[in-house]
Amino acid sequence: MSSVDLFTGIHKGVRGMLFETALTVQNLDVENPAAIASLIDDIHTVFSFLQEHGEHEDDRIFPTVAGEEPQLAAALDAEHKSHMALAARLEDELQFLAEAATPVQRADALAVVRRSYHDFVAGQLLHMNHEEREMLPATQRLISNGNLAEIRRGIVGSIPPDRYIQWLGWMLPALTPQELTEMFDGLATAPPQFGQMVEAVAADVLPAERWNELHAMTESIVMEAA
Ligand SMILES: [Fe+2]
Repeated sequence: MSSVDLFTGIHKGVRGMLFETALTVQNLDVENPAAIASLIDDIHTVFSFLQEHGEHEDDRIFPTVAGEEPQLAAALDAEHKSHMALAARLEDELQFLAEAATPVQRADALAVVRRSYHDFVAGQLLHMNHEEREMLPATQRLISNGNLAEIRRGIVGSIPPDRYIQWLGWMLPALTPQELTEMFDGLATAPPQFGQMVEAVAADVLPAERWNELHAMTESIVMEAA
């Protein structure tokens, strides 16, 4: 049984992103145009990250187990497509919110967006659990650790550096101290430039207490503690 896990860490980052906007959509000042524009931007950002994440799974992970687990791969792919349909509906509702002219229209449009966004979050949460309960063990049963690590390198290598820094910005704060330590221990064998980039993101996005804790646990970190 392999132990490389292609799902859990990135899913934690995705949940952080989904939850942050889920909180914003609940208490937004509907009379503040900048706040509405910012919410619309945030939801578009969530869509773009999730589309990218789904493509990585569809293109680089599911095909590797589809021969042995065709129904599972097809079911998860169908869930990805249903998320896109929900996102398209929400896109129309966001447009309606952006164009609402009166306070009453804005409040009504925001209520519609809030409920649809929560439908979207609920769908994503169920889907990620489905993947972690069934696809994760399937990949670990059917693919060697070396090949799983190669798939992960392929995914990371396909993401432009600026975008990968954004992904890390969501993922690192969502990891446990033990997961962070394991990740940084693994960076000891990565190209130094890559390790330094991840360190810089960690130093930026982790609270000082967590960064110092990680620093104390990991010998290979080059940057200074806070
Ligand atoms: Fe997925």
